[in-house]
Amino acid sequence: MAQLSLTFLGRSPEARSLPPQPPLRVAGLFAGVGGIEAGLHQAGHSTSLLCEIDPAASAVLHARFSGVPVHPDVMCLETLTDIDLLAAGFPCQDLSIAGQRAGIAGRRSSLVSHVFRLIDAASPCPKWVLLENVPFMLQLQHGKGMRLLIEELEARGFAWAYRVVDTRAFGLPHRRQRVLVLASKTECPRDVLLSMDAGEPNPPRFDGAAVCSFYWTEGHRGVGWSVECVPPLKVGSGLGIPSSPAVWDPEAGTISTLDIRDVERLQGFDADWTEPALTKGKRGDRWRLVGNSVSVPLGNWVGTCLRSPTAYDPRYDPPLGELSKWPNAAWGESGKRFASSASMWPVSIALPRLHEFLKHPVTPLSSRAAAGLLKRIANGSTNVPQRFLTNLKVIAAEEERRLAGVERQRLEREIVSLRTAARRATQVAAQVEISERIRLLERRLEESERAS
Ligand SMILES: C[S@@+](CC[C@H](N)C(=O)[O-])C[C@H]1O[C@@H](n2cnc3c(N)ncnc32)[C@H](O)[C@@H]1O
Repeated sequence: MAQLSLTFLGRSPEARSLPPQPPLRVAGLFAGVGGIEAGLHQAGHSTSLLCEIDPAASAVLHARFSGVPVHPDVMCLETLTDIDLLAAGFPCQDLSIAGQRAGIAGRRSSLVSHVFRLIDAASPCPKWVLLENVPFMLQLQHGKGMRLLIEELEARGFAWAYRVVDTRAFGLPHRRQRVLVLASKTECPRDVLLSMDAGEPNPPRFDGAAVCSFYWTEGHRGVGWSVECVPPLKVGSGLGIPSSPAVWDPEAGTISTLDIRDVERLQGFDADWTEPALTKGKRGDRWRLVGNSVSVPLGNWVGTCLRSPTAYDPRYDPPLGELSKWPNAAWGESGKRFASSASMWPVSIALPRLHEFLKHPVTPLSSRAAAGLLKRIANGSTNVPQRFLTNLKVIAAEEERRLAGVERQRLEREIVSLRTAARRATQVAAQVEISERIRLLERRLEESERAS
């Protein structure tokens, strides 16, 4: 897998580098297609064990982490031995804004309890624990999910830090945020997770030429409109088909959908990373697996900072009151909790223009898909540029023409069968009624032909 240049780890002059640390042996629970682990690997750490229940995802792990055992079910994993870092991007369906919002106690997200069971059973206790999930967890049910994680960690004597991080910080044109929680009983997580900060740049605005991306499968309450980047890749869509962002090039007037290989690259994977999933699943599975994944550079960045930590200056961090909302970054140790002003951009790698990033052939959005989207936008509350709507209408018009053609054929067939019925009718009244119906249909046919 391609190495990401980590020369971006420039620190502010006053930041104090701490002694370099050895590489770690990683166990990846809920490993999916190995986003975190691939990133940690790039930073020089090694994977000792993976755990993943989904057969298509496991096929990817077997192919991409050759020789690493893949355990099929976290619930049946009894213990962990000789692990330095326990990584777990536990299921997010119950915590995500797009999911069922059952919260941390939901059927799938509550599987995180097995992470704590395995921490207790591990021999020795892993030096580091790295959890990952969606940032909506900080808000849902007044932040109950994050509270539970922190309380479980504190009850075991862990110091912790968490931070919301944006994939765009790493030079990928993909608007995706994830919260990373790092904890340790012996080390200082904030020196790894909070000490680097590039600050959040101003978001790009639509200037009439910028390529924009959106979900053609949505439209009732927004389409995830994103300028010069794709919206957060996701597992499903409003239409119940694999999620597939589209891009609009306002200068060319084209709307196209993306190739799965570019979608993998938008997560930091090599193109075709998930191809082995085809041995166990369907074509759509690749979209689902990539949508579920952690962006690889996030794992790379944490992995690099684990090896080269920098002293974090906590002097100005305010205590986190019991009732305050969870901020985007915080840390705690010895029962005390503090908010951090660390931004979602620990680093800032120049973002390529979206059309420069995409390398694989795109597929024009079908007129049928355009017509469907147009209808949902018209009936919903989505706000998009007028020029985009004009483009969409041009594409959708082909669908209208196709549907009008189908309707004309139906009218012609009905007229033919009515003429036969008229010839067979013996009663005058029936003949008159059929003739009137024929005249009506002929008028409709003429109107449709004139309009086409
Ligand atoms: C949010 S995804 C993790 C994605 C992963 N970190 C990546 O980068 O691809 C959660 C994963 O947990 C897996 N999972 C759910 N239940 C599981 C179980 N009982 N044992 C192991 N894995 C499970 C799901 O199949 C899914 O791939």
